Amino acid sequence: MIEACNAESGLHIQAIYDDSACFPSLLAHYGMFRNAKNYLALVGSASTPDLRGICGYYGQKLVLALQQMELNTCWIGGSYSKKKTGAELGPEEELVCIIAMGYGETQGKPRRSKPMSKLCNVAESEMPKWFRHGMMAAQLAPTALNQQKFFVTLEGNSVTVSVTKKNAMAEIDRGIVRCQFEAGSGHPCL
Ligand SMILES: Cc1cc2nc3c(=O)[nH]c(=O)nc-3n(C[C@H](O)[C@H](O)[C@H](O)COP(=O)(O)O)c2cc1C
Repeated sequence: MIEACNAESGLHIQAIYDDSACFPSLLAHYGMFRNAKNYLALVGSASTPDLRGICGYYGQKLVLALQQMELNTCWIGGSYSKKKTGAELGPEEELVCIIAMGYGETQGKPRRSKPMSKLCNVAESEMPKWFRHGMMAAQLAPTALNQQKFFVTLEGNSVTVSVTKKNAMAEIDRGIVRCQFEAGSGHPCL
């Protein structure tokens, strides 16, 4: 599946096994990982337009597939050492972020989400069913620090996701939400 994602997107996503060097130490304040040693490195050419958004989109496709295989995952954009990953970078390539994968000690826990009314331009009472399903999946999308700084717009039949507050992870989050909306609704989302 990684090969298929790379062929479609032009990315250079790599699976790295048995290598825990890049994970934060147990003393870290934020982003503690215990026994994590397998991950995906999301790599692509630095000149790719919207490189971070594309990484978000294809990374989340892989996350959904991994979770379906009963593995657990965690997006990691900040709390890891870029220098200590085993990712192979070509001369023009950049490491955008990593996704830890493995068998979790737990399945995670439910967390709060913003209500649909704050996340899209359609009133719940007027939503087509497919759009509601897309929004339910978008609400479940992981975002950095769970900030959910995205907004989904329905115009005619076309759906777009925009960023409501720019930060280092916003474009990755946008790609993740696009993937989730498509998976939930069966409709394209740009
Ligand atoms: C783009 C992105 C970057 C993230 N970076 C980190 C990170 O550096 N360290 C960490 O512990 N968690 C990181 N996370 C995990 C989020 O904090 C977590 O997904 C979010 O709080 C939502 O919780 P959930 O995944 O349980 O739904 C990141 C998530 C995303 C989407």
